[in-house]
Amino acid sequence: MAEIEKRDLVSIEDLSTDEILELFHHADAFRDNLLGWSDLCRGSIMATLFFEPSTRTRLSFESAMVRLGGGVITAADEKNTSRSKGESLADTVRVVGGSYADILVLRHPEDGSARVAARYARVPVINGGDGSHEHPTQTLCDLYTLWKEKGRLEGLEVVLCGDLRYSRTIHSFCYALARFKANIVTLPYPGFELPDYVLGRLQRDFHVRTAAASVADLPGIAGSHNAAAYLTASQPHQLALYTSLTPVEVNRIDAIYMTRAQLERHSGEDIKNYPRLSSKTLNAAAAKDARLMHPLPRVDEIDYELDSDPRSVYFRQAELGVPMRMALMAFLLGRIQLRSKPPAHNSAATGIDARSGLRCRNERCITNGEGVRYLVRDFRIRDDQANSVAMECAYCERDLQIRYLGHLSERWYGSLAPGVANSVPLDQRVWFESDTQAEAAGYSVRGG
Ligand code: CP
Repeated sequence: MAEIEKRDLVSIEDLSTDEILELFHHADAFRDNLLGWSDLCRGSIMATLFFEPSTRTRLSFESAMVRLGGGVITAADEKNTSRSKGESLADTVRVVGGSYADILVLRHPEDGSARVAARYARVPVINGGDGSHEHPTQTLCDLYTLWKEKGRLEGLEVVLCGDLRYSRTIHSFCYALARFKANIVTLPYPGFELPDYVLGRLQRDFHVRTAAASVADLPGIAGSHNAAAYLTASQPHQLALYTSLTPVEVNRIDAIYMTRAQLERHSGEDIKNYPRLSSKTLNAAAAKDARLMHPLPRVDEIDYELDSDPRSVYFRQAELGVPMRMALMAFLLGRIQLRSKPPAHNSAATGIDARSGLRCRNERCITNGEGVRYLVRDFRIRDDQANSVAMECAYCERDLQIRYLGHLSERWYGSLAPGVANSVPLDQRVWFESDTQAEAAGYSVRGG
């Protein structure tokens, strides 16, 4: 078989919109005849490295690979791997993605860990959920379900409920919905709104604007009506209709996406009355043709009585995970080809070595966790202004605002001002967010 270029799926942004739609057609073919593909990946081995609990993601990947005729090796419990003796993720994936397996699926508690795995493994890496960062294959299943249910993805009206801060499925889903010019209404549990870095990216990359919304006709969703934000894609007629912070009524809802409180990422002590969807919610006029979605596991966010409502599609999302993941793996292993072009940008690109200067602000980033031992911190420049430079961590994609620049060998630093950067050669530049950070790294103010 011809060598194919290694592709990873760390973020939903690693697939182009056309590739996603083409994968849906392959998933349809797999689903129409689930038993008919047992030669397609014969001889290939998938390793599932799951360092957090999972039912759907791990087992649907394993089922998908078995249906494709390949083999599966699994580490479903970190305690039974040499990670419990202190082995790094980098070494683990170098070994398993060396000669043990042809494709890796990773779930890991630290944000940015899937990017680390993709950099160190020789074989394709699929992110099965990295901390609260992203869960791109759940998004593929969610989009595929909506596409089948609604016959399209363009311009849907989607309500996102619950813990939007820590839910990785929500973050990947938002980026994908914005690409399809969906309108997104957020109904966060108070204090668990979409993080600023997600909102910033929606605005920067997809021109999505935030505005207030009234969802008062959605009964049965506790809590947060007044905190609702309305995000509208940047289409001329929409911009004219919904200007920032102008309340708008939500008259039609295509999907309500519910999430559980991510208690593995916070104590939950601030949560007293978490939203719960009941039949009253779906009785609302706006929800007449809505689909009720949930990535599962459900805890207590959706009444069991709703399971029999034909608009409830959460078990269908889980079921469609098998053909969707068959299509993804067959593609990444080079067993099916896509005509569509990959994304123009390269989210795997490395940025600048921050040397002793910068540190990712996200305490859950792998560069502040196990990566402290071996990772070179890596930041991409997003926006280069005269007095400040916007960067993002190349692993977890959190923002940093750089205001000071230092000289590596001369050990001085100064505030960024027009022309200052040009006075320091590229290979001598050291960046800082604050003067305190520069002083702590052993730099003195220029001319001081
Ligand atoms: N939706 C999802 O990721 O489920 P699991 O945690 O069971 O894999």
